[in-house]
Amino acid sequence: MNTRILSASAEHIQEVGVLLRNGELVAVPTETVYGLAANALDGAAVSRIFEAKGRPQDNPLIVHIDMLDTLSMLSADVPDTAYTLAQAFWPGPLTIIVPKSDRVPTEVSAGLQTVAVRMPSHPIAREIIRAAGVPLAAPSANLSGSPSPTTAARVAADMDGRIAAIVDGGACEVGVESTVITLVGERPRLLRPGGITKEQLEAVIGAIDVDPAVIEPLANDREAASPGMKYQHYAPRADVTLIDADAAQFAAFVNAQAGDGAMALCFDDETDGVAIPFLTYGARADEDAQARRVFEALREADDRGATRLFAACPRAEGVGLAVYNRLLRAAAFKVVRL
Ligand code: TXA
Ligand code: MG
Repeated sequence: MNTRILSASAEHIQEVGVLLRNGELVAVPTETVYGLAANALDGAAVSRIFEAKGRPQDNPLIVHIDMLDTLSMLSADVPDTAYTLAQAFWPGPLTIIVPKSDRVPTEVSAGLQTVAVRMPSHPIAREIIRAAGVPLAAPSANLSGSPSPTTAARVAADMDGRIAAIVDGGACEVGVESTVITLVGERPRLLRPGGITKEQLEAVIGAIDVDPAVIEPLANDREAASPGMKYQHYAPRADVTLIDADAAQFAAFVNAQAGDGAMALCFDDETDGVAIPFLTYGARADEDAQARRVFEALREADDRGATRLFAACPRAEGVGLAVYNRLLRAAAFKVVRL
């Protein structure tokens, strides 16, 4: 298949709407990361997403909508809290899990009785949903297991030849995927940290639970609340280790690892004294910059031939919790605390 790379002209948006209605796959920019979209109401189209990504069949997809009304089509039983959250955070990087309706094909929910829904804020994503005239199921547009793509070029590196088109909307603003919260269960529970922080959510709906899998490996005997949390994720080819240390300790540690493709992933303001090849991913105190940079930096490490990547450990607060969560998974939970 010849994958077209399209600008977001009005004409291209209309074309993409037709492709999606016809069951094709198109990568679209969102404010978080690029998504690999298909018509969410068409089970056959949705199953092509799993093929293109090599995604495990039991990992459900997020449905992207442009109007609040669509939520009640996707869920027969929308909790009040969903509307409260939507009012506060939509459009934006928050995914809300609610009981699913019969309109949602089992391919989308991967057999669960729930559906994950989000209204993105990216203007191009919204225009594409409108042009398609249907809600769009879209996981991140990377091969399963790889770092999520935040530019069209990174989507093309993974998806060229596998999908009909990629719409180039430039670099994504948030850089990590949406926050996922489930409203199915006794208390709202954070399943994946993202662009909307736990603190922001609690300011609107009160205390929420945090799923242990956010910062711990899933115990073997525990079923994943969010099936995506079972899999090793976001990993570059390089073997990643997180280093929880101050600047001087970090430099001393990485310098002792010199050679054999060792590379450091540093904070912008803490590269002094690092004597091995390095990349940076934002200043220590700038979690927003870290989120924007982290996936791109992991892919750059591969481009530069790193085989072992030692990453400075972010602060696990605010948006930093999302950055920490992604790097922990990239590192398969290997953390050195100094
Ligand atoms: O920012 C984002 O959320 C991006 C953009 C494209 O919107 N999408 C994204 O999709 O990150 P994906 O498929 O890479 O991650 C979706 C996560 C997975 O961990 C999946 O297991 C979880 O959401 N999920 C989806 N539906 C679920 C459900 N019904 N119950 C529990 N977890 C669900
Ligand atoms: Mg993903």
